[in-house]
Amino acid sequence: MTQTALIIDCDPGVDDAIALLLAFAAPDLLELLAITTVGGNVAASATARNARIIRQMAGREDVPVHIGAAAPLAREPIAASHFHGESGLGDLPIFEPVAPAASSDSATAIVELVMSRPPGSVSLAITGPMTNVALAMQREPALAARLGPVAVMGGARAEGGNITASAEYNIYADPHAADIVFRSGCKPTVLGLDATHQVRATPQRVAAMAAIDAPYAQTAAQVLQFCARTQQALVGWDSPPLHDPCTIAWMLAPQLFKSVPARLQVETDSPLTAGHTAVEFRLSDPSEATAQWVTEADGEGVFNLLLERLAR
Ligand code: RIB
Ligand code: CA
Repeated sequence: MTQTALIIDCDPGVDDAIALLLAFAAPDLLELLAITTVGGNVAASATARNARIIRQMAGREDVPVHIGAAAPLAREPIAASHFHGESGLGDLPIFEPVAPAASSDSATAIVELVMSRPPGSVSLAITGPMTNVALAMQREPALAARLGPVAVMGGARAEGGNITASAEYNIYADPHAADIVFRSGCKPTVLGLDATHQVRATPQRVAAMAAIDAPYAQTAAQVLQFCARTQQALVGWDSPPLHDPCTIAWMLAPQLFKSVPARLQVETDSPLTAGHTAVEFRLSDPSEATAQWVTEADGEGVFNLLLERLAR
């Protein structure tokens, strides 16, 4: 398999951190062009610092980290530190990384990287609110058509919401940005809660990760143990879903997932349902599809991929 040139737009975030570790552990398959961070789970300054911390722990200072939008396009910021800890990285050690962030902001980096490379050659994984990507698309109207495969962690259909009754966090945090991206024609593969809830960090899987004597695996195990404690306390789950790593797993092993064409629209204004993703499978013509909605995920296969890669 040839290398995929990839930008990861994220808001680390404990599950973003594991997604980054998985990507860092696949240099044979992924040419990581940049990590572009955004305010979301915690403030933009913290998500950028956190991405730099994970980058330093992984020894991958070759990958630039950019600082992104501090606030959504229109609504007030809403953090998720209750799930991610005050730092955003659970109970991992927090320090000022040696290598600084890159000088350009996230949206600028996305535009420059995509527009300077051949059409379709740059893939994009989005694991946080889509503010940076929407800003990039507004700045460069040709961006959406030039992108390669796009994987989005966001939205919900059958599963209902996780931040409100009807909305998943990444879409709820910036529904206007999500609306721009979903209308852009980039036709993303969307891994919503319907997919990510099929990929759980069960106690057995976390124990298997903790048993691997390798730095990436040990870091991931500590994060997963934090997630398990937090989710047990907050929602009564002993097996937290692995949301963001699913986007990287899809880039590396798409055969682990099944998706269907859908017309995906976002509610942007209703006080009751803002951030809701209306995922319509009833299309009179395939050309109506604006996304591929992931309906099935091989949870065991995704976790085995994670174990195998983080053991290296
Ligand atoms: O709903 C799950 C998403 O919200 C994940 O990206 C997690 O990091 C949080 O941002
Ligand atoms: Ca995230």
